Amino acid sequence: MMNVEKIRKDFKMLENTMQGHDLIYFDNAATSLKPKSVVDAVVNYYEHLGVNCHRGDYDLSFQVDSAYENARKGVAEFIGAEEKEIVFTSGTSASLNQIAYGYGKFLNQGDVILSCEAEHASSVLPWMKVAEEKGCGIQYVPLDDEGRITLENFKKVLNDQVKVIALAHVTNVLGYEIPVKEICALAHEKGAVCVIDMAQSAPHMKVNVKDLDCDFAAFSSHKMIGPTGVGVLYGKYDLLQKMEPFMLGGGSNARFDMCGNILLKDAPYKYETGTPPIEGVLGFHAAIQYLSEIGMENIHAYEKELHDYAIEKLSKLDNLILYNPHADTGIITFNVKDVFAQDAASYFNTQGIALRAGQHCAKLLIDKLKTSATLRASLYFYNTKEEIDTFVEACKNATIENCLNVFF
Ligand code: ALA
Repeated sequence: MMNVEKIRKDFKMLENTMQGHDLIYFDNAATSLKPKSVVDAVVNYYEHLGVNCHRGDYDLSFQVDSAYENARKGVAEFIGAEEKEIVFTSGTSASLNQIAYGYGKFLNQGDVILSCEAEHASSVLPWMKVAEEKGCGIQYVPLDDEGRITLENFKKVLNDQVKVIALAHVTNVLGYEIPVKEICALAHEKGAVCVIDMAQSAPHMKVNVKDLDCDFAAFSSHKMIGPTGVGVLYGKYDLLQKMEPFMLGGGSNARFDMCGNILLKDAPYKYETGTPPIEGVLGFHAAIQYLSEIGMENIHAYEKELHDYAIEKLSKLDNLILYNPHADTGIITFNVKDVFAQDAASYFNTQGIALRAGQHCAKLLIDKLKTSATLRASLYFYNTKEEIDTFVEACKNATIENCLNVFF
């Protein structure tokens, strides 16, 4: 059982008010709040460690090296990978771009990349660029009526031309989990690789990359109570060794000469050029330790309970349109009838409720949803049923008049 009351005390941000109300933070799919242990880890680096990693031959430098590599070990254990398969990047977008740039080199004219209409821009745009440069095609797995990817629909578009499958484990607007394990197994039968965007899954559920057997995965520290500016690129080691980094510089090479011969280090180091955000990586390690102590299964179950509690109440309100009442995580996407999403978000702001409005970087999805923008309330394990009750009351009062009154 999770002690949410105790957990909330670790998150200083939750003491904030907004517009005279206690802050209700429901924008967790955009970024998460940070507990004291994460903030302390960052401050501890600046106050007590302070030096660069992988570059010095003095005690402090060795301490930082060891803390940095321990963080890599922590991340590897967290997702069931080997340490050498974990590359630290600046975030999910950087990881996905590196994968597309690196693996895209092996694609040929006529090859096909599979995406879907629910994908985040960072999952699909790098592959659009690869497709343009290499003469490949991009095809989209058809979504079912709810907006989900089903295995049945996946099989319809999988053929021998498909060389890459680039999909989100959990989509960022509808919050549906895709059957990654089955998709990877089918893809491998055809010789395709699977690139899984785990930005919205790794923070919320237990993920094991070996069990799923995905070839690449990407996620961000900041969406899982860690610092911004740090992300993870997981890749099967032989693929990481085979690919090239898109950035070169200090730290990633073993030697180079004036004839232009460059010998890169082995993965993961060849992908980590330049001084990394050391404090962020150490803070990320603290975040993973915090999440692991609670247990990802507990976090997932609690979020689902919160989600179902909210949906049960929200579905009774006839002034709302709910787009994903059966989401697998804590993402609730909706609109107030006849009110533009951003206007409604401004109304929720006046009630102390932070949520996101717009297209949420998934611009292909709006045709499917038949709307130009939506509101998204996204929950995390520090949210409560009491906050949902307040949110439901605010939704009840979200009339056209109240939403537009915000501006007058
Ligand atoms: N990718 C983040 C979101 O979905 C920013 O909100």
